[in-house]
Amino acid sequence: MDYQTLLYKKSEGIATVTFNRPAKLNALNRKVMDELADCIEQISKDDEVKAVILTGAGEKAFIAGADVNELALQTPVQGKDTSLAGQRVLDALENLGKPSIAAVNGYALGGGCELAMAATLRIASDAARFGQPEVKLGIIPGYGGTQRLPRLVGKGRALELILGGEPITAQEAYRIGLVNQVVPAAELIPAAWALAKKIMANAPLAVRFAMEAVNHGLELSQQEGQFLEATLFGLVATTEDMKEGTRAFLEKRPAKFVGK
Ligand code: COA
Repeated sequence: MDYQTLLYKKSEGIATVTFNRPAKLNALNRKVMDELADCIEQISKDDEVKAVILTGAGEKAFIAGADVNELALQTPVQGKDTSLAGQRVLDALENLGKPSIAAVNGYALGGGCELAMAATLRIASDAARFGQPEVKLGIIPGYGGTQRLPRLVGKGRALELILGGEPITAQEAYRIGLVNQVVPAAELIPAAWALAKKIMANAPLAVRFAMEAVNHGLELSQQEGQFLEATLFGLVATTEDMKEGTRAFLEKRPAKFVGK
């Protein structure tokens, strides 16, 4: 797939999407968001892709936020439309049905932090910085940050980040549960790759429905969430992979999953 602002690579079942505006620290302008929406849709239809890694081009940034040049010109109605459109793109990423890993190689600010939070998991290089600096610009997070951040790190820490606007280090992001791992910069992509491979070794439908249970369950009461869980538990019990996984365990051999 050819894009102007993204690099797309597919290898061994892993799609790597690299945000590629390094001179602007990979800031998310409308073109990037349109291309990302298309890329996510193509990935969702491509059965060869089992997992996705998202990262930023250049040494400095994963994504330094929404493009401030565009933000500066928006009218209230455009602002609302931009926010809703961005939320839709990140919702599509979160609900892709395939695991995605944000390999955060530098600044993940504003929309960059929001995008990383929409990925299934996050690995940071030790040089990464995370933050929601919107209030310093007179705006608030608009790509789901006010909703995903408290769900990931709790209300108090989320409000501290959103109201203070100051970035935090990768280590601090790890401490509060915003990222899953911190690794030296040179090990970032290999670590993301290893994590993707680890998940891909498991039954694809079980992985998909486990993500659905968590993502949708968080929007429901615990009772309703558990009912959803039971229904999906019943659904995976109909799969060939359930038969294979349980049989392989009993026969003391590795399972061979087919995603059916
Ligand atoms: N939107 C548009 N352009 C951006 C950008 C953004 N969010 N973030 C960085 N850039 C551009 C800069 O304007 C600069 O462009 P120029 O060379 O044409 O002037 C280029 O990227 C490099 O950024 P610069 O600020 O010179 O790098 P730095 O190392 O001094 O600072 C940051 C890095 C991330 C601290 C700083 O760029 C920054 O604060 N960016 C904005 C972060 C933000 O508020 N994001 C949330 C937006 S809602």
